[in-house]
Amino acid sequence: MFDAEKFIVEAVEKLRQDVKGKAIIAASGGVDSTVAAVLTYKAVTDQLTSVFVDTGFMRKGEAESVKAMFDRLGVDLTVVDASEEFYTGLAGITEPEQKRSVIGERFIRVFEREAETTQAKYLIQGTIAPDWIESGGGLRDTIKSHHNVGALPDDINMTLAEPLRDLYKDEVRQVARALNIEVAEKQPFPGPGLAVRILGEANQESAELVRECCAIVEEELESAASKEEMVLPWQYFAALLSVKSVGVQGDVRAYGRTVVVRAVQSLDGMTAAYSKIPHEVLERVSVRITNSLGSRINRVVYDITNKPPGTIEWE
Ligand code: XMP
Repeated sequence: MFDAEKFIVEAVEKLRQDVKGKAIIAASGGVDSTVAAVLTYKAVTDQLTSVFVDTGFMRKGEAESVKAMFDRLGVDLTVVDASEEFYTGLAGITEPEQKRSVIGERFIRVFEREAETTQAKYLIQGTIAPDWIESGGGLRDTIKSHHNVGALPDDINMTLAEPLRDLYKDEVRQVARALNIEVAEKQPFPGPGLAVRILGEANQESAELVRECCAIVEEELESAASKEEMVLPWQYFAALLSVKSVGVQGDVRAYGRTVVVRAVQSLDGMTAAYSKIPHEVLERVSVRITNSLGSRINRVVYDITNKPPGTIEWE
């Protein structure tokens, strides 16, 4: 039986021995990096700098809520707003893999700059067992390069410490609970963020639109689930298409963009079935999106594709 309390004592002790100077961690707000940050903070206190990079493709209120969580945990968090750099880097790029590569590369650049500023000698990572077990194989075709934004290059000039390396996800969750980190069963969110939910160029305007649409989908589905109108899907979000269509707003012709609502049931993201959401709930989503963004988005559609042949995200 895994003993979270015992693990915490041992992990903190090991970190205290291993980390002999300034350390840095890329904190995403996800459970793995948060647990790794809290354990390291317990071991070396303010030798640790936790950095949250705002890429401009975060969900609504994300930076603020991660900051508030770290505040509650008593761990200092540096929020770096690098959104302009990401928007600039992505200007004119429409090819999905190229977008991912620009985001990954920019992320590394921003993070390295922070590491240099703090003169960190140690890099803390929230790697868990499945991360390195899965990346060992070469059996699967790359459908999309699922690189974790936050994955840093091997040649980085810092000593790596991975306190969660031997743990599985449920064990990390047990440790999180023991550390008073709230582990709401959050839905997965792709490393490159909202950028993979914007088809075509991922710019600031599109990011703002899709961020608002994702927030509406989350709020309406969570509210419906809490009223037992439906079961909360495994993942649920909106994607912004680059096609425009004709609609009508007031009495005049409108020519706006299309938003896709996507919600799926899945165990691990490898396969997925689209969720049979009640039409009333979908209608509330559609009405809210077009009411609040109607001049720019005039059509909302629901994706009824399973995976395979679709993927969960649109890019
Ligand atoms: P797909 O779209 O490939 O997604 O069916 C399967 C699951 O993985 C998430 N996803 C990503 N996660 N980096 C990530 O960390 C990525 O680049 C990425 N792309 C997709 C997706 O949200 C779904 O849960």
